[in-house]
Amino acid sequence: MTTASSRTNPTASPEAAAGCNAKSTSIGARGVSKSFVSGVVRVQVLQQLSIALCAGELTLISGPSGCGKSTLLSLLSGLQQPDAGQITALGQDLGRLNKRDLEHFRLQHTGFVFQGFNLFPALTALEQVQLPLGYLGLSGAVSLERAMRALDEVGMAQRAQSRPAELSGGEKQRVAIARALAKQPELLFADEPTSALDADNGQRVIDILHQIARSHGTTVLCVSHDPRLVRHADRVLNMEDGSICNDWRPSTGPSGLPRRPATSPETTA
Ligand SMILES: Nc1ncnc2c1ncn2[C@@H]1O[C@H](COP(=O)(O)OP(=O)(O)O)[C@@H](O)[C@H]1O
Ligand SMILES: [Mg+2]
Repeated sequence: MTTASSRTNPTASPEAAAGCNAKSTSIGARGVSKSFVSGVVRVQVLQQLSIALCAGELTLISGPSGCGKSTLLSLLSGLQQPDAGQITALGQDLGRLNKRDLEHFRLQHTGFVFQGFNLFPALTALEQVQLPLGYLGLSGAVSLERAMRALDEVGMAQRAQSRPAELSGGEKQRVAIARALAKQPELLFADEPTSALDADNGQRVIDILHQIARSHGTTVLCVSHDPRLVRHADRVLNMEDGSICNDWRPSTGPSGLPRRPATSPETTA
């Protein structure tokens, strides 16, 4: 269990703490801090946070609203820059990339899934998934094949010609996952992907994300305040007030010991 050490000592090796070897570490943050100015007040959101994420795993960042989950996800994905500290992804120091290279990195290597699906009302499911593949410069035939394969993987091939208005929330989110998946990204980020869904659909979505991590070796980082998702993750990072207060694996429980109900992270998520 890491995090006490990686939180208080940013020079400790987060890779060792994460339980990934150097080869499978895909994203690393070292001593990362981030604050925002709100009116005349500066709000410190993240302070000296260090973490390493492993390829082929679904890592869940869990914690109450406002604790800094989305901010951490946006830093790790290169959407925002930290005030201090270093983020490395797929061996690249994101802070050293210029704007254009960072955009290229994000286009080539990252996929995103959001709470609100972000689908275009006028496009069919197939067109939604094919659209970003055009930006990758893929030919029509290749993008069609990839898009259909991605829709099939999330169980939506039969609905390829449906528009968002004809789909349920769970189906829309599966199309959004297919859109991210079709890019074949090494890094997949999901911010509250189940928050607009009922329990059954939420479970299906998290299971699909987990399956993507396993079968494609993708690093899947999912942010959620929903404690029901915890048992579907390979690894859980519990956040409070901008720090990771617990880093554990549901298969073994905290510290590899059976979990005690009174202190279970599930009860504090
Ligand atoms: N762009 C921003 N400008 C000002 N404050 C922000 C901004 N983004 C986030 N915050 C603040 O940072 C804190 C953490 O936000 P966030 O990372 O979105 O939390 P979470 O995703 O855990 O709900 C909140 O107090 C939020 O108001
Ligand atoms: Mg958030």
